[in-house]
Amino acid sequence: MSDPSKTNLITLTRHVFQDQVEHYKEASGDLTLLLTAIQLGCKFVASNVRKASLISMTGLANSSNIQGEEQKKLDVIANEIFVNALRSSNKVAVMVSEEDEEAIFVETQYRGKYCVVFDPLDGSSNIDCGVSIGTIFGIYKVRDDSEGEIADVLRPGSEMVAAGYCTYGSCSTLVLTTGKGVNGYTLDTEIGEFILTHPNIQIPSRGKIYAVNEGNSKYWDAACTKYFHSLKFPVEPKKPYSARYVGSMVADVHRTMLYGGIFCYPADSKSKNGKLRILYECFPMAFLVEQAGGRATTGRKRMLDVHPETIHSRSPIFLGSKEDVEDIEAFYRAEA
Ligand code: AHG
Ligand code: MN
Ligand code: MN
Ligand code: MN
Repeated sequence: MSDPSKTNLITLTRHVFQDQVEHYKEASGDLTLLLTAIQLGCKFVASNVRKASLISMTGLANSSNIQGEEQKKLDVIANEIFVNALRSSNKVAVMVSEEDEEAIFVETQYRGKYCVVFDPLDGSSNIDCGVSIGTIFGIYKVRDDSEGEIADVLRPGSEMVAAGYCTYGSCSTLVLTTGKGVNGYTLDTEIGEFILTHPNIQIPSRGKIYAVNEGNSKYWDAACTKYFHSLKFPVEPKKPYSARYVGSMVADVHRTMLYGGIFCYPADSKSKNGKLRILYECFPMAFLVEQAGGRATTGRKRMLDVHPETIHSRSPIFLGSKEDVEDIEAFYRAEA
């Protein structure tokens, strides 16, 4: 008998569909089909990212987005890939993208019952030097009696039904939760399928790594200054933490999910609400981290309990190992 892991491949589609049928008697397969469209987007982006330098897809698109950022060519093409894949899935009513100023309301004949918020290409500043980047997405179900309106996406992250990210690095790994734990699937480019490689991801309760942009130290508040100092100059016999910072949220969070530790993008005197966007960066990552046994906070409040005011609202975020996040929360309580 050959090795079953070689002849009984558990693809993402098979894994999600089996899980849906097992847990939801009324499962229609709609979420599975929506995730198939998202997988297509991720495979397409992965392929374009890998050959970007060869097909002159690096560099700027000579356009800016609502964030006031200069869009990279891959930002624009990744966005178009996902908007088209989601619309043609017939499962989506509302889309919110980092790269589109307004929400997209899908026309009646293509409309479905899900709302997808997404960052088509996260870590754009790393594209031209080939450092890991990714895609982040969160999924809400439209509220009862709604045909799809802005109120369906201006909701706490706790109302999301699924969330995930895909890394585009030495390999492409899609990490997903549908509310019952977290699983990781690695893209086999030869057969074009995401295969289950990281079942039931659990974040260690405490790590030894912190990730923050130290270049903002001058602007940090007292809680952050004291917290990071405590990691670098711990009371004996504790050892200092290691610093790791890729500058792509997806890469920094993926490492935190697998190795433990804490990822931080604090608010500071320069950026009153921090930099990361609530709907399509903070919420999906907070959902995944909590589902993997970790914790995610604004410093003062559970991240998933935040109620976003606009589709591009920002928030400070600290996420990762439960005990590490509890430490920073204690520093914020002490400064309250
Ligand atoms: P995006 O490329 O989607 O605009 O996101 C970039 C974000 C995030 O990926 C990362 O954690 C953060 O920007 C890094 O910001 P700094 O360069 O200010 O540290
Ligand atoms: Mn951007
Ligand atoms: Mn991003
Ligand atoms: Mn982005």
